[in-house]
Amino acid sequence: MKIIEVKDYQEMSQKAAEYMIEKILQNPNIKLGLATGGTPVGTYQNLIADHRNNGTSYSGVTTFNLDEYIGLSGNNKNSYRYFMNEQLFNHIDINMKNTHIPQGDASDIEAECHRYEELLAKHHGVDLQILGIGQNGHIGFNEPGSSFESQTHVVDLTPSTIKANARFFNNMEEVPTKAITMGIATIMKSKEILLLVSGEKKNEAMHQLINGPVSENFPASVLKKHQCVTIIADKAVVAGLKVHSS
Ligand code: F6R
Repeated sequence: MKIIEVKDYQEMSQKAAEYMIEKILQNPNIKLGLATGGTPVGTYQNLIADHRNNGTSYSGVTTFNLDEYIGLSGNNKNSYRYFMNEQLFNHIDINMKNTHIPQGDASDIEAECHRYEELLAKHHGVDLQILGIGQNGHIGFNEPGSSFESQTHVVDLTPSTIKANARFFNNMEEVPTKAITMGIATIMKSKEILLLVSGEKKNEAMHQLINGPVSENFPASVLKKHQCVTIIADKAVVAGLKVHSS
């Protein structure tokens, strides 16, 4: 795993966008794996600015998102489909038909997981997967204990995740308790992975990732077994690493 150290969130976002743009220019038909959450928002803003200023085109690009809440339609403001449209897709020239996110309101969720995995296979997988990391080492919605062999599947959200999400909803009954996520094996099939890590809160996770064992108890540790992983981490994260290992 190659680590690129940057000053702060802003520089991480800029570097990540530059990295992605270079890959898009090299391969205009690239298949990108995308993430939601706070980490990639700045990267998406940089992609949008570059699209406006330099005209980088997404007309041939296909995207696959990592995950989606079960029970929410794409029109729901808390769905990841809505997030992606707002944060990126509505502002670039991508064909919406080429943007794929598991359908959270599918009538048959197991069939939807299967369809998504098949769709990825049909496209011969993701070329470049963008990842964030949870404080407990989760990637996608693959929480500690998830099998390294897992494909796209349904997960029960942990009580702490449900509680953390509650602030976005009117009441507890509306908060999703399940999600669909690409599995660890699905993520590992991507040809290249770009992991973005920013802020002191991710210190411990980064320390575990770099210095800990490869274990299903810390899902991100599987990345050590991947051929081509680049981590862009800011000073706050890397400083934590040095403290931990000294
Ligand atoms: C998002 C995702 C999650 C996040 C992780 C970090 O699609 O799959 O694994 O990447 O929870 O979230 P943030 O970026 O909000 O710290």
